[in-house]
Amino acid sequence: MPLHERDNVRLLLRDSVFAGHALTSAIPKYRFPRDETLPREAFQLVADELMLDGNARQNLATFCQTWEEPEVVELMALSMNKNLIDADEYPQTAEMERRCVHMLADLWHAPEAGNTAGCSAIGSSEACMLAGMAAKWRWRARRKAAGKPADRPNMVCGPVQVVWHKFARYWDIEMREVPMSHGTYAMDPVSMLELVDENTIMVVPTLGVTYTGAYEAVEAMAKALDQLQADTGLDVDIHVDGASGAFLAPFCAPDVMFDFRLPRVKSISASGHKFGLAPLGVGWVIWRDRAELPEELIFHVNYLGGDMPVFQINFSRPAGQVVAQYYNFLRLGFQGYKGIHDACYEVGQYLASEIVKVGPFDLLCDSTPATGIPTVTWRIREGEDPGYTLFDMADRLRARGWQVPAYTLTGTASDIAVQRILVRLGVSRDLASLLLDDFRDAVAHFDKHPVTVPMSKEESTGFNHV
Ligand SMILES: Cc1ncc(COP(=O)(O)O)c(C=O)c1O
Repeated sequence: MPLHERDNVRLLLRDSVFAGHALTSAIPKYRFPRDETLPREAFQLVADELMLDGNARQNLATFCQTWEEPEVVELMALSMNKNLIDADEYPQTAEMERRCVHMLADLWHAPEAGNTAGCSAIGSSEACMLAGMAAKWRWRARRKAAGKPADRPNMVCGPVQVVWHKFARYWDIEMREVPMSHGTYAMDPVSMLELVDENTIMVVPTLGVTYTGAYEAVEAMAKALDQLQADTGLDVDIHVDGASGAFLAPFCAPDVMFDFRLPRVKSISASGHKFGLAPLGVGWVIWRDRAELPEELIFHVNYLGGDMPVFQINFSRPAGQVVAQYYNFLRLGFQGYKGIHDACYEVGQYLASEIVKVGPFDLLCDSTPATGIPTVTWRIREGEDPGYTLFDMADRLRARGWQVPAYTLTGTASDIAVQRILVRLGVSRDLASLLLDDFRDAVAHFDKHPVTVPMSKEESTGFNHV
């Protein structure tokens, strides 16, 4: 063997990871790597790069799960090689998905929970798309049956998450969004009725408006639509975007009527990976009953073995998230979910009561179970100038690793900047008090070092989920 090759072999045999070949030379970033790398070294390279990400537990912008029990991690590993779509090969996983659907139908008071239709999705976004398609198909069938044109569908909603803008654009639907205005940050029955007409495929109230965390009044809107039907004959369906709230209200505010107790609610979507407490990658959509999911939307495939009815946008999907969701339902039950979510609301209330003492802030959401999700959202009081913007505050908190996004509202309220904290499983009272310390320190810092050129929304980089 030539001498230089022997040197190479010696290099490969060194067992100190950081003196290894891959870690002592520059690695290609945008070219496809030519050679193999030892697993240990490749792992170290990737793990080190991940270090530069934010710390998920301090990410108070996200609604999604950032802490899981070790048993969930174990179940995820057990399910790693299973494809959820392959129900013929993995019938027990399919059965778990089916059970979750019926459990959610039961939680959301479907008239016949055992005979409902529903499915998992990769998140709320896919679930919203599926529900929206079903609404469009139902509306079109009704229009055709009445001999009326069905070429100008619209949907009516309040200030929604971007998924609904996507839905409207991708499926060619006119979006009629009640704009936010000063003091009014959600859709109400009056503003909704102004936009509804015979081409409305559905009204979409949000249970936990992404901008603020506040619930839109589903019951009031259902009543207004009942009255509209009594007066004009117009029958408009409701789909509830319960991304966060549909996993909160049933446990912590059971009197909030948003679900199938209202006959006008035809479908509900929610994120299993938000307050459903499952790891990232699962959403749910449930229809009131089988009749609300048009048969034409369901494909039957036979190439996985058996006859497989499928209704989703993606085909292959990891099974672990659904398995973990089922575990959570079994493990926690109603009381467990209630206990965890109640604790989140309490921590949120503590944060809300302290934040208003730190600066001239007005709360838009104060973590009250009957009116919203466990969120604290605030703005600088109108007419006040504390000498910094909320974008400066977000930037300062980032220096300590906290991600507390600042962003502007929409519509004619787009001149209002807000900041928001999502309190979810893992945000303990103690962690909240550490955040508050840093919040107070940030204000003290601004007092000592006044901001001369405040940060603007354009300069702020925080992700805020809207
Ligand atoms: C109200 C609402 N709907 C839909 C979504 C999209 O959910 P996902 O991230 O699960 O796709 C979100 C995300 O924050 C949301 O807040």
